[in-house]
Amino acid sequence: MQSRSMATTNKPKMPKKLFVKTYGCQMNVYDSQRMGDVLSSMDYAMTDQPDDADLVILNTCHIREKAAEKVYSEIGRLRPMAESRKQDGANMMIAVAGCVAQAEGEEMLNRAPAIDLVFGPQSYHRLPELISRVEAGEKNVIETEFPVEDKFDDLAQKSKNRPLPRGTSAFVTVQEGCDKFCSFCVVPFTRGAEFSRPVAQIITEVEQLAALGVREITLLGQNVNAYEDNGTGLAGLLEQLGRIDGIERLRFTTSHPRDMDDQLIAAWADNPKLMPYLHLPVQAGSDRILKAMNRQHTADEYVSLIKKIRHHNRDLALSGDFIVGFPGETEADFEQTLQLVRDVTYAQAYSFKYSMRPGTKAAEMDGQVPEAEKSERLQRLQELLNEQQLQFNESFVGRQFDLLLERPGRFEGQLIGRSPYLQAVHVDGNGHEIGEIVKVAVNNAGKNSLSASIIETA
Ligand code: SAH
Ligand code: SF4
Ligand code: F3S
Repeated sequence: MQSRSMATTNKPKMPKKLFVKTYGCQMNVYDSQRMGDVLSSMDYAMTDQPDDADLVILNTCHIREKAAEKVYSEIGRLRPMAESRKQDGANMMIAVAGCVAQAEGEEMLNRAPAIDLVFGPQSYHRLPELISRVEAGEKNVIETEFPVEDKFDDLAQKSKNRPLPRGTSAFVTVQEGCDKFCSFCVVPFTRGAEFSRPVAQIITEVEQLAALGVREITLLGQNVNAYEDNGTGLAGLLEQLGRIDGIERLRFTTSHPRDMDDQLIAAWADNPKLMPYLHLPVQAGSDRILKAMNRQHTADEYVSLIKKIRHHNRDLALSGDFIVGFPGETEADFEQTLQLVRDVTYAQAYSFKYSMRPGTKAAEMDGQVPEAEKSERLQRLQELLNEQQLQFNESFVGRQFDLLLERPGRFEGQLIGRSPYLQAVHVDGNGHEIGEIVKVAVNNAGKNSLSASIIETA
């Protein structure tokens, strides 16, 4: 056996370079950061260019066809880079993570042999072992099981040395997976069954983030309001996190209408750190379509729920998700979606053309809507939603609120933050710093952002 002194040289060890590209939802953003934490403890440093990376991870999304296809075109771009690195005597390992990895696994390796490693969203804490296997020459390494050990406990162990910086606002996944099985959606297949992390484990993670300078936490879950740990629901968790020193703002996303309980509805009034914003997707306004989607509620039930939430919290910005052109959707069904949007009025929303996903119930349904019709409906819906968003933003001109300064703007001295209602707000920094919370007055409003002046340090 070689002795330690013989194996090491006097040259300082260069960190390896890691490039991560993230697609899809905020949970993937969180997962990419955690992968970065684990790899940082293994002496990998982040790079923002793939060319000279020793390891490239594509953290992928399977939600719509376009999202999934992006991965293959990215691999097409990476292949020549990997080959030219080989010619220089170096190496570039290409790994595919996330929901496409989970859904397509082996198929990916057949379709794109340049891939060295495939692993799903439930196994990325095993990255150190997986990388060693590839380095030892093993081909076609795949890890898409749902492991028995606690991913988050294991991650905490493996990444405690050197967590990556997080800025002033950070995501924390508290709930994963989905048991709802909406007929169009791949998430229950790619992320597995609903699971909530223990309260104590989340508190430890948030305390660590606070020590890194984070002031705002967004709790994430595919159905975050289904969070439950030994009788503590999401409202209880938010209350405990609000007591952590340094944490000034709390948010959560995404919620399902079926899991909106009274404690959570009361949370905005009870918890001063909880920001007045709720993302509550409805997808469609026609009961026939909602039933075919397996959303498990009617349009009226959703609208009544919104009324109840607003009755308790008058100052709440509402956001949603919509799908147009679900199989069997007629013009009359679509009109009901428009009507629901008019009845509810959103501060902002996301809308998508239905995309047929392999393995889902909706993919087998009759009445697939032609592409041109989907595009036309999407345009009409987005016009209405954009109008509502602009109106919402314009209603803020002259108003004041606290702003968390998050990052530099494009112009000298400019800073950008988010309002309590999640609008992007531009201010002239005037000597104030990122991470500060300041009081601002809004001067101007556009569809995508507000501009404001700092009036005092909050
Ligand atoms: N768990 C969340 C979000 C899941 S995915 C929820 O239930 O609200 C985010 C959004 O993508 C969904 O709300 C839906 O609007 C959209 N989406 C999911 N599957 C889709 C599909 N097959 N085609 C088009 N949009 C889809
Ligand atoms: Fe998908 Fe529905 Fe689950 Fe949301 S609730 S993740 S849309 S199956
Ligand atoms: Fe996409 Fe997976 Fe998120 S499919 S939306 S990355 S849960």
